[in-house]
Amino acid sequence: MLHLSRLVYALFVLLSFHRHRGGASAFTPQEEEQIERFQRYLRIRTAHPDPDYAAAAAFLLAEARSIGLRAVVLEFAPGKPLILLSWPGSNTSLPSLLLNSHIDSVPAEPSRWLHPPFAAVRDAAGRIFARGAQDDKCIAVQYLEALRNLKDSGFTPLRSIHVSLVPDEEIGGADGAAKFSASEQFRELNVGFVLDEGQASPTDEFRVFYADRSPWSLIVRAVGAPGHGSRMYDGGAMENLMDCVEAVAKFRESQFDQVKYGSKANSEVISVNPVYMKAGTPSPTGFVMNMQPSEAEVGFDLRLPPTADIDLLKKRISEEWAPTIKNMTHQLIQKGPTRDNKGRPLATPTDDSNPWWSAFKQAILASGGKLAKPEILSSTTDARFMRQMGIPTLGFSPMANTPILLHDHNEFLKDSVFLRGIKVYEHVIGDLCSLPETSL
Ligand SMILES: *[C@@H]1O[C@H](CO)[C@@H](O)[C@H](O)[C@H]1NC(C)=O
Ligand SMILES: *[C@@H]1O[C@H](CO)[C@@H](O)[C@H](O)[C@H]1NC(C)=O
Ligand SMILES: [Zn+2]
Repeated sequence: MLHLSRLVYALFVLLSFHRHRGGASAFTPQEEEQIERFQRYLRIRTAHPDPDYAAAAAFLLAEARSIGLRAVVLEFAPGKPLILLSWPGSNTSLPSLLLNSHIDSVPAEPSRWLHPPFAAVRDAAGRIFARGAQDDKCIAVQYLEALRNLKDSGFTPLRSIHVSLVPDEEIGGADGAAKFSASEQFRELNVGFVLDEGQASPTDEFRVFYADRSPWSLIVRAVGAPGHGSRMYDGGAMENLMDCVEAVAKFRESQFDQVKYGSKANSEVISVNPVYMKAGTPSPTGFVMNMQPSEAEVGFDLRLPPTADIDLLKKRISEEWAPTIKNMTHQLIQKGPTRDNKGRPLATPTDDSNPWWSAFKQAILASGGKLAKPEILSSTTDARFMRQMGIPTLGFSPMANTPILLHDHNEFLKDSVFLRGIKVYEHVIGDLCSLPETSL
C-alpha cells in the first residue's frame, strides 16, 4: 500500500512538474545535481538539541574534496567540529574573503509541517521543505556550488577565499564563531571581509544587513517596608518597582513612537519589553491579598542598535529606572559585544568609504539583482563576532521573492531561488576576491 501510494505520488509530482515547466525541466542536469546536493545536506539532522555534526562534517569534507578546496577541521569544543575550507589566492599576502555559515539549526515540530522537516521534499512548485532550507544551509551549499562553478570556469582568485562552517550559532555561538574569531587560526587567515547569513525577502529586492542589535537582559529588584494591604505609605517594594516600570514604559513609548510615527525601522531603535514580574506572598488559593510584599522583581529584554549611546542608557538605568535611593538594585547582562576591538560601534559602513561594500553592491547589480536599503538585523547572528574583530561583515542570503520562514513551520526555499543564489554568489565572490590591492 505504502509503495503504491508513493508511486502515485511520484507520478503526480512528475505530471505537475511537466505541467509547470511546459513539458521539460527548466534546469540543466548540472543544476539538478546542485539541487540534489542541497537536499542531501538538508537531510542531515543538525537541529538542536542533538545536532549530528559528524555527518554534516563528512558531507562538507566530501564536497570540498570534489571541488578541490583545502580543508581543515578545527574543534574548539569536543564534538563540535568547525570546517574551514580554503582556495588560496594568487597573492596570499592580501587580506582574504571569508564566507561563513552555521551548520546547526533550531528544532522542528514534524506534526506541524506539510512534509517531514528533514526529508527535503521538493514539491511540484519546486519548493524544497526542510528545517535549515533558509536558515542557513542554503548559503553553505550555494557558496560551495559557486566555488565549484568558478573553479570549472578556470577562474583564479587574487585574494584567498575561505569558507567557515561553524557549529552552535543557534545556541549563542560560544563554542563556534566566538572561539573561532578569537583564535590564532582565524588571525592567520588575515580576513579582510566577511559574508554571513541574512534573511529572505518577500519582494524582488535582496536584503542586506550591516549590523545586529545587541541583546541585554535587565533585572530590577526592589525592597521596601512590608505593610497591610489597606495602608497607603511611601517606600513599599511594589510601589518602588511600579515607579521603575512606569519609567521604562515611558522610555519604551519614546522609542516605539519613532517606529510608529517616525521613519525608523524596528531594528533602529532601542527596544525594551518586560518579560516577567515576580512578587507577592503565595497562599493556598493564589496570593495573600491584604499584604504588601517586601520584595519585588521585574525582568526586561533590551535590544540595542549599534548607534545606541551605551553610557547614557546605563546612566538612565541607574538614575531613573532603578535608583538605589528608591531601594532598587539592578543586574545588567550584556549578551554580546557592543564595540569592536578598536572601540568602534559594531556596524559595517555601507557607502563608498568601504571598497568591499562598493564591490559587493556592484556585483549584485551585475548579477541582475536589486538591493534593498541596508538594514540592521533585529536579532543576532555570528556576524557580531567578526565585526568585534574589526572586520567589515555583511549579512546576506540571496533569497528574493521568498516568504520569511526562518525558525517557522514549513520552512522552504524554491529550487529556482536556490539556483539563482549560486549565480549571485559567483558574481559576488568573483568580484570581492578580485578587489585590487590599491583599492583598500
Ligand atoms: C602581494 O601583496 C602584498 C601585500 O599587499 C604586496 O606587498 C606584494 O607586492 C604583492 N605581491 C605581488 C606579487 O603582487
Ligand atoms: C527603603 O526601604 C526601607 C525599609 O526596608 C524603608 O524604610 C524606606 O522607606 C525605603 N526607602 C525608599 C525611598 O523607598
Ligand atoms: Zn541562522
